Amino acid sequence: MTDFENLKNVCSSCTKCELSKTRTNVVFGRGSSNPDLLFIGEAPGKNEDEQGIPFCGRAGDNLNKLLEENNVDINKIFIANILKCRPPENRDPKNEEMELCTPYLIEQIKLLKPKIICTLGNFSSKFVLANGNIKEMKKIEGITQIHGKLIEINFQGVDVKVVPIYHPAAIIYRRHLKDDFFSDFKIINNLLKEEN
Ligand code: URA
Repeated sequence: MTDFENLKNVCSSCTKCELSKTRTNVVFGRGSSNPDLLFIGEAPGKNEDEQGIPFCGRAGDNLNKLLEENNVDINKIFIANILKCRPPENRDPKNEEMELCTPYLIEQIKLLKPKIICTLGNFSSKFVLANGNIKEMKKIEGITQIHGKLIEINFQGVDVKVVPIYHPAAIIYRRHLKDDFFSDFKIINNLLKEEN
């Protein structure tokens, strides 16, 4: 068994926090174990909890549209979340839950070694930047300020280019963010082309 499969097994039987009592499935993530691009969302919603797959509901439809529009090779991506279990009523993740759960994500990043990370929304952007060694940024700002910017970091030994974009659920109700969501991804698409 690979280290990644082992991590998935450990994560899938996790009972470190209260969310383990209300979840249906642990949503470890899906995709290539050698991805060029890693997407990081916030936490599973209702559909994801039921199916054990990240971004398979309405937010996932927007993410799929983004991938299709940019002809992204889905065999070269991985999709994960900050929390692996659904918070009841889709409330925000609590600090304690993030502290207990993110060691799984850190391990995922170290094992997957993606070239690019696309953080989706505030929670994952702040987490990745706060836990990485940022080369050129003094203060970590919110998604409104940093969306669409390329930020080079060393994430615990992994050199990676981070581009935060709005969360695909945010554009469902805030239509004015939709244009930014799609145009911010162009920078990632260009980076992907450089890689190949
Ligand atoms: N929103 C997220 O942040 N992650 C999912 O997997 C689904 C919706």
